[in-house]
Amino acid sequence: AGRGTLAGRHVLVTSGPTREPIDPARFLSNRSSGKQGHAIAAAAARAGARVTLVSGPVEIADPNGVATRRVETAQQMLEAVEAALPADVFIGAAAVADWRVEPSADKIKKGASRAPPTLVLRENPDILASVAQRREGRPALVVGFAAETRDVLLHAQEKLARKGCDLIVANDVGAGVFGADSNEVHLVSRAGVASWPRLDKTEVAARLIAHIAETLGETP
Ligand code: C5P
Repeated sequence: AGRGTLAGRHVLVTSGPTREPIDPARFLSNRSSGKQGHAIAAAAARAGARVTLVSGPVEIADPNGVATRRVETAQQMLEAVEAALPADVFIGAAAVADWRVEPSADKIKKGASRAPPTLVLRENPDILASVAQRREGRPALVVGFAAETRDVLLHAQEKLARKGCDLIVANDVGAGVFGADSNEVHLVSRAGVASWPRLDKTEVAARLIAHIAETLGETP
């Protein structure tokens, strides 16, 4: 067994955006860079955990000492997460696309005489909620993220209850967080709220992992 506060633990992290194909050439996605989720996976590895990272398409490198699985769509991310369970800790830092399109096998053509196509959106599976609500093999600690542009704490508390997770890391994304190197977060749990100052994403990751190790230590 290794050393560190998370030695002997399996930590499963999702990171980055998902990408939902529209046709062979086009997709729907979002601005997630994967920086925060990847930093969390790296911090967990430094704390001695065995770490599995399920990452959407990102431009940053796979973290050292972490088993990284690359996926594209939300459905693939869910399958990779289920394949990686059981875990002691699940941290859902990915910006999973809320909707997918039933993709067209051929590239959708535009034409002077043709009306623009209508995209029919279907709801994607909620990976965080499905892990948090597992009857068997639920991780001891399930952590979600909440990116909000207003009423950050209110939405985080609502999300904690609705998804059934133990901790929500909430941030205000109105303030240029996407792709940035720093982040200002609030930790929302049933015990209350802890607000941290603006920190480097690597420092947010280190503190979050320290907090998780402490919480796990209190769990019998
Ligand atoms: O309310 P919202 O869906 O934005 O909550 C964000 C949290 O839920 C994040 O932790 C994100 O990783 C997770 N999530 C998920 N699957 C989805 C949507 C969000 O795991 N389909």
